[in-house]
Amino acid sequence: MFSFFGIFIFLKFMIQESSLIKTDYDMLIFTQAWSPTSCYEWEKKSPSHQCNLPPYEEWYIHGLWPTKNGTLGPFFCNRSLPFDFNALHSIREQLELKWINIYKDDKPYRLWQHEWEKHGTCSVDLKSLNTEKKYFKKGLELLNKYDMKYIFNNVNILPNQKYFLQEYLDSIHKILGKNAYLECITNKKRNQIYLSEIRICFNKLFELVDCNGIIQFPSNCNKNDEIIYPDRVPNLMTEPLVVQL
Ligand SMILES: *[C@@H]1O[C@H](CO)[C@@H](O)[C@H](O)[C@H]1NC(C)=O
Ligand SMILES: *[C@@H]1O[C@H](CO)[C@@H](O)[C@H](O)[C@H]1NC(C)=O
Repeated sequence: MFSFFGIFIFLKFMIQESSLIKTDYDMLIFTQAWSPTSCYEWEKKSPSHQCNLPPYEEWYIHGLWPTKNGTLGPFFCNRSLPFDFNALHSIREQLELKWINIYKDDKPYRLWQHEWEKHGTCSVDLKSLNTEKKYFKKGLELLNKYDMKYIFNNVNILPNQKYFLQEYLDSIHKILGKNAYLECITNKKRNQIYLSEIRICFNKLFELVDCNGIIQFPSNCNKNDEIIYPDRVPNLMTEPLVVQL
């Protein structure tokens, strides 16, 4: 008998099957995250949350995401390529610093496992990314080459200051010659906006391309917002108390 539930299961099956096959993409988005903002975002979700921060404020790797222009994904392209922690043995120390899992009490490899299974399995068609180790080494190599700390330093965009969206984007364009994407998060209580991530885009030869066309390009932020580049984790304790009358 036909039922909505049956149709639902059928569609879900179709989507899962097609996601196994459909691995087409035209670009790779390289996402760097700013550790103080990531930590703030994590801490504010629950009083029990603590961060595993790098020794200094850093841009660290969030991920390298094969992407079909104008869409998100493809994702989870091959479930027969499970994450293998041992494959990363020789680069583990670097990954723990540069591809850091800032969630304390979580396994350091949890982020790597997620990134590999969701994104890495979608770009194994590229010779430069056809093993887990190559995928993670590529991330390290890209951070080394395009670390936002150096890019921003070069154009005098400095932590503990705030800038408009366009100032950030223009300064990246000035150095890289391509359009990037900026992600920010909002602290509603203090009515502040923090710089959270920078995404830059590559073609399959790892030549920089404009990020024009990726979802929400050029930012999830508003062009009139002043965006803080925090120099340390914004303090949860100083948020105004809500007085109960
Ligand atoms: C998934 O990975 C396995 C193991 O490498 C491989 O044999 C298989 O062909 C892959 N499947 C697809 C759809 O790419
Ligand atoms: C992605 O799509 C946008 C808008 O359609 C286009 O301007 C851009 O050149 C495309 N990028 C790539 C890498 O194909």
